[in-house]
Amino acid sequence: MAVTDAFGRPISYLRLSVTDRCDLRCFYCLPRDYRGFRPPASWLTPSELAQAVAAFAELGVRHVRLTGGEPLVRSDLATIARHLSALPGIEELSLSTNAARLESQAAALRAAGICRINASLDSLDPATFARITGGGDLNAVLRGLEAARQAAMEPIKINMVMMRGINDHEAETMVEFCLERGFTLRFIETMPIGSGGREALNHYLDLEEIRQRLDRRFGLHPAAMRGSGPARYYQVGDSSLVVGFITPLSQHFCASCNRVRMAVDGRLFLCLGEEADLDLNPLLRGGADQQQLVAAIHAALQRKPERHDFHQAPERIIRPMSALGG
Ligand code: GTP
Ligand code: 5AD
Ligand code: SF4
Repeated sequence: MAVTDAFGRPISYLRLSVTDRCDLRCFYCLPRDYRGFRPPASWLTPSELAQAVAAFAELGVRHVRLTGGEPLVRSDLATIARHLSALPGIEELSLSTNAARLESQAAALRAAGICRINASLDSLDPATFARITGGGDLNAVLRGLEAARQAAMEPIKINMVMMRGINDHEAETMVEFCLERGFTLRFIETMPIGSGGREALNHYLDLEEIRQRLDRRFGLHPAAMRGSGPARYYQVGDSSLVVGFITPLSQHFCASCNRVRMAVDGRLFLCLGEEADLDLNPLLRGGADQQQLVAAIHAALQRKPERHDFHQAPERIIRPMSALGG
């Protein structure tokens, strides 16, 4: 049984950011002129990451998701995955990616223990895709997704950040796209994290609007879906497609929160809407043993806040979303 926080929530899911760099520049996530990246000397190595994750596993973490920035820009990602998937207690290793570099790496990552991916895809129109991502190549992403399917990564979930006036007219097209390929589709509300996230709030859309639109068109029935995150899922008509809605603003899901996050340099974040709490870097590099790490993390978990305050204080988080990978 996982250790619980002060609100009785078992913490079984760790989101591990393995880099704060990215090869795309989605405007809602990473401003083009951002210069605040962590210095490479502070990046935890695969064995330091494994040491930290072993301590989380002792506290009951069972699912680790690798996030970024973009995890695939880290050349030792497969080594990291091998280290983590071999740890006792870690039952699932997953990846959140933009899929732009996945074509050549999917098979190796699957072999290294990454069983499933969530991939960002906000538009199927090459020009809109390039506009959102700051010049990204839609075709590279589509080839990456196909490679993940060939590599038997299952399920493959598509993350679509919904923005009024930018891609909200594409919801139905994305449904067809995912249905044809056996992907799961999740719609996400924009969050006010960093200057890009706040800019995207100008395009904020309550996902209930999309849910009702899809319900009228296809019929939606509540469904279950494998995963550890906050999405609420529905089956589309009598098809095999499942769509999920991630609604941090319109219907927050903090009461069932099961996760904490670690940045590439070892800083522990107890909530996406908070600044770092504990810095594990000096412990890891100062020779702390496993019991000391476990004790420090256990104490930190008791400080996990009850919920985010994106509504009351939307200007609070100045780091970009890419610093922690969502
Ligand atoms: P699974 O459910 O296990 O497939 O993964 P996930 O949905 O947790 O992971 P993913 O990286 O695909 O995240 C999808 C979206 O959910 C991103 O926009 C995340 O920022 C958001 N998200 C995940 N966890 C939280 C959370 O604790 N709080 C908030 N506000 N958003 C979250
Ligand atoms: N609001 C909501 N989702 C975001 N993501 C990145 N920035 C934001 C934001 N400001 C999403 C990405 C990716 C996921 C991990 O987080 O699109 O799919
Ligand atoms: Fe958990 Fe914080 Fe996310 Fe709420 S905002 S679901 S408490 S991490």
